[in-house]
Amino acid sequence: MAKILDGKSLRDKLLENLKTEIDGFGVKPSLSVILVGNDPASRIYVNNKKKTAEKLGIISTVFTYPEDVEEAVIINKIDELNNDKNVHAILVQLPLPEHLDKNKIINRISPNKDVDCFTFENYGKLASGEEPAVYPCTPNGVLLLLKEYGIELDGKNVAVIGRSNLVGKPMGLLAMKENATVTFCHSHTKNLKEITKRADVIISATGHPVIKVDMVKEGAVVVDVGIFKDENGKLRGDVEFGEVLGVAGFISPVPGGVGPMTIASLMLNTVKLYKKQNKY
Ligand code: GUN
Repeated sequence: MAKILDGKSLRDKLLENLKTEIDGFGVKPSLSVILVGNDPASRIYVNNKKKTAEKLGIISTVFTYPEDVEEAVIINKIDELNNDKNVHAILVQLPLPEHLDKNKIINRISPNKDVDCFTFENYGKLASGEEPAVYPCTPNGVLLLLKEYGIELDGKNVAVIGRSNLVGKPMGLLAMKENATVTFCHSHTKNLKEITKRADVIISATGHPVIKVDMVKEGAVVVDVGIFKDENGKLRGDVEFGEVLGVAGFISPVPGGVGPMTIASLMLNTVKLYKKQNKY
């Protein structure tokens, strides 16, 4: 029976320590969030981020814009936040409406306030083995979770399922930085089962029910980054949880695995940027 990678407990522990650290700061760290449009999931995510930040003593300001906002309005707001020394971290919630140039907007964020590691400067550093200002929230959360359970990636075969810029790609880069042998898999991968069956660690981030029990090696570590509702409206992840539980060595549940770690990472990143700007 697999051990559970409990993201909720680790989040609570990390945030408790972070709160103690923040309590010792004279000026409070501040995270500004830009939210465009009415995407219900984005609104929930942004609300959760704000609530968590405030509990810790991080000032969190959300700037909300209608779906049809002009690009210049967002660009001007980012310039204003870049120039405000009381703002330490900036996050533009994705997805953005079609008419907005996502790359232009993201890259307007000053790289030293880029809390997601989304700017080309930070992302490029990550890809070239340099130190970005911070690591991307979800992949970094996954690494923290693995480390908590003593799971080393050095020399391991890691299969990353999903190649999104948000999770899959940076996840593979981070795993490689930890000296893993990484195989990137995606919707066009022909021999997925062959690859996952060889993997010591499977990290799935597709939002589809792709990982079945016969695809998992005995004792493997299975990290589920997917989250979606099944046909009965019940939240589930990419992994057939109940069945894989009997085969894997470790498994992260959905909810309660990677999700809480993403928020914890965002808070840790905000404080990391704050400390860099204040020369801690
Ligand atoms: N949308 C879904 N996940 C994320 C995230 O981690 N950061 C941002 N900015 N938008 C998202």
